[in-house]
Amino acid sequence: MTSTPRVLVVEDDAALRALLTELLASEGYDVHASTGGRDALAHLAQHPDIGVVLTDLLMPDGTGEELLRAVAGRQPALRVIVMTAFGSIESAVRLVRAGAFDYLTKPVTTTELLRTVARAVTDQPVSATTAHAPGTPGSGELVARSAIMKEVLGVVDRVARATHPVLFTGESGVGKEVLARRVHERSGRGPFVAVNCAAIPDASVEAELFGHARGAFPGAERERAGLFEAANGGTLFLDEVAELPLSVQPRLLRALESGEVRRMGDATATTFDVRVLAATHHDLESEMREGRFREDLYWRLAVLQIEVPPLRDRPDDIEPLAEQLLAEASGGRVHRLDGSARRALLGYGWPGNVRELRNAMQRAATLATSNHVAAGDLPPRVREGEGIASLIQRASQELLPLEAVERAYVLDVLKRADGNKTRAAEILGLDRKTLYRKLTEWAAGSDGEGQQPSS
Ligand SMILES: Nc1ncnc2c1ncn2[C@@H]1O[C@H](COP(=O)(O)OP(=O)(O)OP(=O)(O)O)[C@@H](O)[C@H]1O
Ligand SMILES: [Mg+2]
Repeated sequence: MTSTPRVLVVEDDAALRALLTELLASEGYDVHASTGGRDALAHLAQHPDIGVVLTDLLMPDGTGEELLRAVAGRQPALRVIVMTAFGSIESAVRLVRAGAFDYLTKPVTTTELLRTVARAVTDQPVSATTAHAPGTPGSGELVARSAIMKEVLGVVDRVARATHPVLFTGESGVGKEVLARRVHERSGRGPFVAVNCAAIPDASVEAELFGHARGAFPGAERERAGLFEAANGGTLFLDEVAELPLSVQPRLLRALESGEVRRMGDATATTFDVRVLAATHHDLESEMREGRFREDLYWRLAVLQIEVPPLRDRPDDIEPLAEQLLAEASGGRVHRLDGSARRALLGYGWPGNVRELRNAMQRAATLATSNHVAAGDLPPRVREGEGIASLIQRASQELLPLEAVERAYVLDVLKRADGNKTRAAEILGLDRKTLYRKLTEWAAGSDGEGQQPSS
């Protein structure tokens, strides 16, 4: 981008809004301000050249989450940074899953704020149509070093030439879309048409999928082909398929069964040849039990179901993924992890999966001062690891490296001993020297910004 980057600050607290605006303006940004989610949406509609939104979460006039969900489908190039109250990690994770670029915990520090905004600005795609814009899945090689991902990839490659539907399931950010694209690339078929079912308003889904005749409904001034017709000869990817309104599901089922579509308001049927792929991070079986997803459609789509495992279940993929994502983010300048960074990456739970790792590596690429990344270049939540309670719960379910558990527990005890190392060593049954040595080792993996135990 050649012009001054435009940032929209959305904050209901007038004093904080003024402060943020001033701070960003003094850094040379063109700053706009809104007092709530609704106002912000209207503002964005009038100023499509705004590239970054910095928004508070709880506001009387439309929450940050509503704002994020409203723009996520419509303006995928927009980078949304949310500010959340300290300690509300769940809401932060939910937002990263919903497409937030990153989040900041309040109170927001100046350095963290400016860094994050700078990253969001440079992450802008050159143009909305660039095939390999940052963030476009499939821009790099697919990494699969763990046995379990090799197996998944094996299945993907085997079914690529088939024509039956495939349903990809798994948590947000695990790589469902990249795998769907891989199926298409290896299928030798025509166009790849992707539709995010969560991003289309319920009332328009039917017209989007099947098209409509002229005058089929108010506003249908011209006839239009649907996505099925657009994907003819190729692949139609129904992303977030669990969000498909119940009212449209029978029609989709009929189309899949008959191989024919009828535009809305049109009596003639057209046959199509489309390979259908679908993905969801929801548990479709429970959606069926709750009556939100039709069972017959499920069985149609899930002829083959591929469950993509979360990143925490395939630790062998973390390092090669991190290195590739780093190299991608830095144009090859940064491509290595030092020991402290590697340990932090392995000790973290990655609730946002590969997408969260990608964001962390983009950040690290801008912070790293040499060709390698240290733990201090990682987001605080990664380098500080998760809280002891959730870590112990996780350790009771899966196998974790001793160091991850040890570090979290030692730091927790030290905190509860009010930072008194003699007392902490007593509780832990360690001698003071050993405790000091451990703390020094761990501190070497931090840039001092984090919560270092005070002496
Ligand atoms: N195995 C992999 N190798 C390289 N990059 C990957 C891999 N898996 C995922 N990614 C990258 O991680 C990001 C998230 O992947 P993707 O969009 O496919 O996730 P998803 O499962 O569709 O998530 P959601 O449910 O939130 O839509 C993308 O940038 C993608 O390129
Ligand atoms: Mg996806």
